[in-house]
Amino acid sequence: MGQYKKVASTNEFDTAKQRLVEVGGLKIALFSVGDKYYAIGDTCTHRGGPLSEGMLAEDTVTCPLHSARFDVKTGKVLGPPASQGVPSYNVRVSGNDIEVEIPS
Ligand code: FES
Repeated sequence: MGQYKKVASTNEFDTAKQRLVEVGGLKIALFSVGDKYYAIGDTCTHRGGPLSEGMLAEDTVTCPLHSARFDVKTGKVLGPPASQGVPSYNVRVSGNDIEVEIPS
């Protein structure tokens, strides 16, 4: 079991829907979908594109480099050219704090 770390505040998502956070040596793409937050690895498994800069449509993000698609809820790959998913991290909200569970 990991440890939850604060990575952002909910008010940072008043207008934005996504951002890069770095915690525990990990680069994590944090997304707001509906009233929930999701965290997946930021680094595309194809050639390292930054998924936090990808286009978000509902719960799918498209890599900005070569358009692989990933499910932001699970990290699973949904479309090529990437063939492997990215890690997915548990998220919880505590007050205004968005916390991500970092594996130990
Ligand atoms: S680096 Fe993401 S699709 Fe190529």
